[in-house]
Amino acid sequence: MPRARASASPSLALIKYWGKQQGDMNVPATTSVAVGLHALRTITVVEGEPAAEGRPPGARVSIDGMEQSIAPFAAVIAALRERAQRNGSRYSEYDLTIDSNNTFPTAAGIASSSSGFAALAGSLAAFFELELSDRELSALARTGSGSAARSVFGGFTRFDSGSHEAYRIYPADHWPELRVLVAITDTARKPIGSRAAMERTRTTSPYYDAWVSDSFSLVDEAVAAIAGRDIERLGTAMRASYLRMTGSMLASDPPVIYWISQSISVIHLCDELRSNGIHAWETMDAGPQVKILTTAHDVPAIRTALEESSAVVHVLESEIGGEPSWRIG
Ligand code: DP6
Repeated sequence: MPRARASASPSLALIKYWGKQQGDMNVPATTSVAVGLHALRTITVVEGEPAAEGRPPGARVSIDGMEQSIAPFAAVIAALRERAQRNGSRYSEYDLTIDSNNTFPTAAGIASSSSGFAALAGSLAAFFELELSDRELSALARTGSGSAARSVFGGFTRFDSGSHEAYRIYPADHWPELRVLVAITDTARKPIGSRAAMERTRTTSPYYDAWVSDSFSLVDEAVAAIAGRDIERLGTAMRASYLRMTGSMLASDPPVIYWISQSISVIHLCDELRSNGIHAWETMDAGPQVKILTTAHDVPAIRTALEESSAVVHVLESEIGGEPSWRIG
């Protein structure tokens, strides 16, 4: 039975994508700047067998052993299959069994859709024996989830507003001391998915237009800070981005509230650590977890503070990296 495997890491946005342009699938309204989280992985295996005569080929997807509804995956599978048909792939009419596993809690705001759709696109490209450039793969992964366009690259990435694919701005070794700590405050599934929440923000929040037009200045700040390896400058821009994004969400109708009391405790803890000279720059996404950008030097102090806090269930640590990989067999 033909088989392919791919793995990818979540893409953590330092400067956020929140809101889509109208028309195409998942074309962002804001420019995002992100890093790959090397220690966290989604691993996806695709197997296939010829579809029965006279029946269109189908697909089944499971995540962490649980069978999923096909709807969220249909666009990416269709896009890759169409590409396979055009290229005359010998497997284009195969029924697919897709099995994906995360090494971290799914759907709790650690951007599992970014690594998930990047690994899905990569495993399908390998299965169908397609030779795609990284940028082509990024555009295909985007049809599953906007942030997945970034996960196709490791290191430091950027995804421009209005663009169909992301690109790498620096490899991971540009800034080897950089670290991310993820403070897990709750592992329950999030109350509303990021897709529905960002659409609600776009259509109902009076702050949405302000969020989008303001966001671009933070991109230039973040890119300059990464170029100069200046964590204070990067942290300041990163903090402004997530807080302004959150402001636009809170003003939606009904409001979108991902924060829980434990998240706020960790935000205050980071404030306290910074006032003691420790680089603890937090960010949050569509979930209650708090991710903290820091340097290898400050990891022990932050870890100790997080582990002593009753707000934190578990701490994950990662370097920047997350080069994806895919192979046949
Ligand atoms: C808050 O990429 O999950 O994590 O394109 O609708 O699938 P869709 O959205 P998704 O949104 C990510 C939102 C975010 C910020 C970010 O990763 O840039």
